[in-house]
Amino acid sequence: MAMVCLSDFEAYAKKYLPKIAWDFFAAGADDCNTRDENILAYKRIHFRPRMLRDVSIMDIKTKLLGTEISFPVGIAPTGFHQLAWPDGEKSTARAAKAMNTCYIASTYSTCTLEEISMAAPGGLQWFQLYIHRNRAVSQQLVQQAEALGFKGLVLTADLPYTGKRLDDVRNGFRLPPHMKLKNLEEAFEVCKMRPSFHSLLDPSVTWNDIYWLQSLTHLPIIIKGILTKEDAELAVRHGVQGIIVSNHGGRQLDGVPATIDALAEVVEAVQGRVEVYLDGGIRKGSDVLKALALGAKCVFIGRPVLWGLAYKGEEGLRDVLRILQDEFRLSMALAGCTRTSEIGRHLIQFSKL
Ligand code: FNR
Repeated sequence: MAMVCLSDFEAYAKKYLPKIAWDFFAAGADDCNTRDENILAYKRIHFRPRMLRDVSIMDIKTKLLGTEISFPVGIAPTGFHQLAWPDGEKSTARAAKAMNTCYIASTYSTCTLEEISMAAPGGLQWFQLYIHRNRAVSQQLVQQAEALGFKGLVLTADLPYTGKRLDDVRNGFRLPPHMKLKNLEEAFEVCKMRPSFHSLLDPSVTWNDIYWLQSLTHLPIIIKGILTKEDAELAVRHGVQGIIVSNHGGRQLDGVPATIDALAEVVEAVQGRVEVYLDGGIRKGSDVLKALALGAKCVFIGRPVLWGLAYKGEEGLRDVLRILQDEFRLSMALAGCTRTSEIGRHLIQFSKL
């Protein structure tokens, strides 16, 4: 099977993954309106391309908080990579490093943070945190991530409780017994009742906890899951260095807008004071160009990473990233841009929005 676009990897993963794993990766909350809208919204956005601009030499690199990456697409945090490929997050880390981009490792990884960092020494890695009721567990993870050389702390803000994902409830989704949430084993031991992993999360987290995190680490803090100008302003005021406009791939509150539709509001509120990124529904190079044109510094992909892993582990994920990179370069050239700094709102036809 020739793999020429990200949907080919999706079709492969759907065909070959066990149903319970596929359903977990694909799930959205409730009616999946937001999950589907994340993708549909890109189809409503049209370009205003410029012609005859010598696009023979292209520079698609960008910087994330000062560190250069090969193109403006990174890897969003997703849990349980061993469900897709036996080596799990180690393969993800290697592919990200090979493609010189950023990998945000999830709290819910099936490899330890140490294994992830050792798999790709020198690669740009950020650590995504869910704050646990047992704060000592979260403190230890943050400090371990910093000590291991992770370069950013991503606080996920949109999951005080888990959204209702119907197929997971029907399937009674659980990790197979041979897979472990390696970074939380101690937390499970402390909590003797064998609770589900999500019930260990602390739903009482507030903006003040950003100050708590700042007291634990020197790492820059990036807040993930912001969708409004009010929260964007609060994030800036609490001293974060970055914001990821995200609706968790439509897995949390069904009925929130597509992230690409929420982006402009956040970008406008922030006024360049911190970097703004986006995830959700990125499936093509032209989607990346639209997100950058509307003000994102970089985008992150979630499910396509899992499809790439399901196809061929590290190699499959490299293929996914390379295809997206080639498509992005081509879209930029066809729009008349030779470097990422030339991408702006002028590329978007607003009368059609
Ligand atoms: C996620 N996401 C997520 N986010 C997070 O902060 N920590 C996590 O552990 C996970 N786990 C997770 C698992 C799976 C299977 C999915 C699909 C998503 C959300 C993720 O970071 C991101 O916001 C979305 O996946 C982006 O949307 P796309 O690219 O999947 O459309």
